[in-house]
Amino acid sequence: MRDFDEHNITEAVIDSMAQAKDARLRAVMTSLVRHLHDFVRDVELGFDEWNAAIDVLTRTGQTCSDKRQEFILLSDTLGVSMLVDAINHRMPEGATETTVLGPFFVAAAPELPSGADISGGIEGERLDVNGVVCSPDGRPLANATVDVWHADDDGYYDVQQPGLQSLVMRARFRTDREGRFSFTSIMPAYYPIPHDGPVGEMLQALGRHPYRPAHVHFMIAADGHETLITHIFDAESPYLDSDAVFGVKNSLIANFPRDDRSGQPQRSLTYRFGLKPLGHAVPSDRLTISTKGNL
Ligand SMILES: [Fe+2]
Repeated sequence: MRDFDEHNITEAVIDSMAQAKDARLRAVMTSLVRHLHDFVRDVELGFDEWNAAIDVLTRTGQTCSDKRQEFILLSDTLGVSMLVDAINHRMPEGATETTVLGPFFVAAAPELPSGADISGGIEGERLDVNGVVCSPDGRPLANATVDVWHADDDGYYDVQQPGLQSLVMRARFRTDREGRFSFTSIMPAYYPIPHDGPVGEMLQALGRHPYRPAHVHFMIAADGHETLITHIFDAESPYLDSDAVFGVKNSLIANFPRDDRSGQPQRSLTYRFGLKPLGHAVPSDRLTISTKGNL
């Protein structure tokens, strides 16, 4: 076939992929081409706009390095990362909801005993965290690994601070027989995602800010359960209603109560984490929002 026009070119491209051996690949690419062509027809894309899109994607790739992933940032800020997360993590009642992993997880964080101070001497408002890890039925999960990481009170992670010689404000803990773990650190602040590249330019052009509300990251793994990747957000933080990566869920917002009795301001977080058992399927038409985890 030849003489393609704006009406018949979509079917021609789809037909060209009919021999693809991988049925899933064929289905995904067919849908992609159909939506992409409909998008181009819908906005009647101009050549200057097509060139601008090619330029943005080129510079997005060029901005990536072993320390920065601008394509994930683009996915995050367009809500695609959270959409993929939502489709793949339909949670049963009693299981903690998930959110994005983010770019600041480090697999080599030190394993420390429960109760350890992970602040690394960095100054800030003291934070005491007490958590318990359970199955949705309330059964405590012993020997689960709990990775935690967070920013400092200026909104920077350790890996963003070239002057730091060691990993701080991050660690791995193990739950005890009652599923409990605890640690001390400093209160994290809200922070901007990296916005000095093409994603930052896009946000500015769209009248959007780059900020994420204050949060502590958790990744929790236990035998027989799906690994939970989530954050707990500070209920007092700005930007809860306009997170630049759309990662906030009501069930993940918690109170970090203040205690000023010692003369040294201090905050705390007490939270129950529910892990989804492996093989526990929740159908897409029955989305269940887990209850708040504040103990
Ligand atoms: Fe973060």
